Amino acid sequence: MQRHQVPIPLTTASVPKQASTPHVVAIASGKGGVGKTWFSITLAHALASNDTQQRILIVDCDFGLGNVDVQLGLHHKYDLTHVLRREIPIEEAIVPVKLHNDGAHSTNRIDVLPGHSGSSTLRLLQPDSLRSLLEQIRDLGDYDVILLDLCAGIDWSSRMIAAAADTLLVVTTEEPTALTDAYAVLKLAVRDRRQDGYTTPNAWVVINQASGSRSGQATFDILNQSCKRFLSFSPHLAGVVRKDRRVSEMIRRQSSFLGTLPTSNTATDVLRVARQLVADTFPALVN
Ligand SMILES: Nc1ncnc2c1ncn2[C@@H]1O[C@H](COP(=O)(O)OP(=O)(O)O)[C@@H](O)[C@H]1O
Ligand SMILES: [Mg+2]
Repeated sequence: MQRHQVPIPLTTASVPKQASTPHVVAIASGKGGVGKTWFSITLAHALASNDTQQRILIVDCDFGLGNVDVQLGLHHKYDLTHVLRREIPIEEAIVPVKLHNDGAHSTNRIDVLPGHSGSSTLRLLQPDSLRSLLEQIRDLGDYDVILLDLCAGIDWSSRMIAAAADTLLVVTTEEPTALTDAYAVLKLAVRDRRQDGYTTPNAWVVINQASGSRSGQATFDILNQSCKRFLSFSPHLAGVVRKDRRVSEMIRRQSSFLGTLPTSNTATDVLRVARQLVADTFPALVN
């Protein structure tokens, strides 16, 4: 078996999406610490905000080291481990999030399906249980968009989730190590799709923590050139999100970045990504 080969068929991707079902987005990175979880939460906030008003579910798919709940300061009784152990129906693990700040971007249109940090249940996840979980998540009818915040790396579970999603969003920074890992994620996603007999994935890239819009665009160009040259495939640029040292402060305070600093460059960048995705990749959601 090749090193990166997925040992199971990626069947969920074969189910055509119906107009009424939510649009499922897998948020992946390769390298850890690039800002996937922060971006997932902030993108959810942007999509749910007054601009686009989508109903969003964030699922913490960082099996083993989930921290969406920590970044949001959520208190909850149940999480994905209870769902996987079949102790509760999936709906009971869902926690509503209220991002009420003074800014224009207050919302109560976001729910979270929390993960669990350090649980052996999630570490012992099997392909069948993951496939069943993804089907249950997709069947949750009340959402426009479901964001799956993945763990770093290219293990079978991340690849299976990426293959099952309608859209793959790869987050990277400008660092060469992060870029190399982002390329690996894209390469495997392309391979997995082709191996299953499909066309290339609907893959988008976010350059996060960019030092500027231009350098972020240049970083994307480098990644795109490699994809074109070696994979005969071009991901789309979802956007460049500039670095702001206050991101870390907001995470420490468990405060919403978009709600607290709605006019900052970084918030504006994430809002632009949300609009771009709604217009170009979730067209079924636009009335
Ligand atoms: N746009 C940004 N500007 C500045 N710092 C950021 C930005 N995005 C993320 N970060 C920093 O990156 C750290 C890691 O973010 P996190 O969402 O936990 O990454 P991941 O989920 O990819 O491991 C955060 O604690 C934050 O300090
Ligand atoms: Mg994370």
